[in-house]
Amino acid sequence: MRVLLTGGAGFIGSHTALCLLEAGHEIVALDNLNNSSPEALKRVSELTGKQATLVVGDCTVEADVEKVFTEYGPFDAVVHFAGHKAVGESVSIPLEYYRNNLNSTLVLCNVMKKHGCLNLVFSSSATVYGTNTQVPLHEDLPTGCTNPYGWTKWMNEQILTDWSHAEKDVSVVLLRYFNPIGAHQSGRIGEDPSGIPNNLMPYVCQVASGKLQKLHVFGNDYDTVDGTGVRDYIHVCDLANGHLKALEYAVEHKGVEVVNLGTGEGYSVMQLVHAFEEANGIEIPYVVDPRRPGDIAICYADPKKANEKLKWQATRTLTDMCRDAWNWQKQNPFGYHGDENK
Ligand code: WQD
Repeated sequence: MRVLLTGGAGFIGSHTALCLLEAGHEIVALDNLNNSSPEALKRVSELTGKQATLVVGDCTVEADVEKVFTEYGPFDAVVHFAGHKAVGESVSIPLEYYRNNLNSTLVLCNVMKKHGCLNLVFSSSATVYGTNTQVPLHEDLPTGCTNPYGWTKWMNEQILTDWSHAEKDVSVVLLRYFNPIGAHQSGRIGEDPSGIPNNLMPYVCQVASGKLQKLHVFGNDYDTVDGTGVRDYIHVCDLANGHLKALEYAVEHKGVEVVNLGTGEGYSVMQLVHAFEEANGIEIPYVVDPRRPGDIAICYADPKKANEKLKWQATRTLTDMCRDAWNWQKQNPFGYHGDENK
């Protein structure tokens, strides 16, 4: 297959690019480099010995998307990763989140339609399950969100579902990611957050490297195994493989499927911290702070549907995730730029 990856230079996009190239597919990434580096795809090319083509352009700009289809197509399918993704920021600048995350999908689908490319895999998120307390989270549970970022994922799911209902040749797979962490085992590609990380694993890695002093654990009074929040952490390479399987499914089927990508296992913040300490032989100093507003106690996937429909399941353990995340951080203390002042 020849596949277009919007946002293909980002954390999940670059790992998926590598996975698709290794499986013998061709990829082209369209990325505005707003929150990613061209270095990621350069390294994907080095690791695979295959061409990871990057086109710098914006998915909300029709001329940019049109140019990729005209000059680099035809494509058998598209994976739409591109989007703003910071929950807190989305609360401060909601209009920008709605503009970017919805316009990109509308522009993309119109250009796909024009070029007769009707197979799409979309990066959705477990955040669409909102405050559901019924775990494991199954795809049929009611949805709803608690922040604008989440609503953009939810609205995109609706847009793509409506499109697939209206046009019988359209094939859409909506992938609801749980908590992707880790990095490629080579340590050459990984997560490169700008500024102080919001998410747990990148924060832990920066404490381990001495860049940050200590971890702030957001609440230890939840109704969980040790009082700290429980999440379904999934290795980014397992997640990337889920995209390969979703693409194979999309080109063979029509209509829309919504599929969880998670391991089905929940770990608490302190369980993750201890797994990191054990896997890497590094102590992580921490303090307990109040709960973070908007957080829920427990979130983990029912991964059965991914297994049945996509023939996919996660294979990597929490220890693998901790080891690979640290391996990347150690080798790239300043991310892709190698520059402390980034
Ligand atoms: C995990 C756990 C925190 C940081 C978010 C988005 C979601 C998706 C992934 C992506 C929670 C605790 C965290 C810290 C802590 N988005 N924590 N100290 O909130 O499950 O999901 O990222 O693009 O939409 O909501 O992930 O890694 O932020 O938090 O104690 O410094 O770690 O309270 O229990 P979350 P997370």
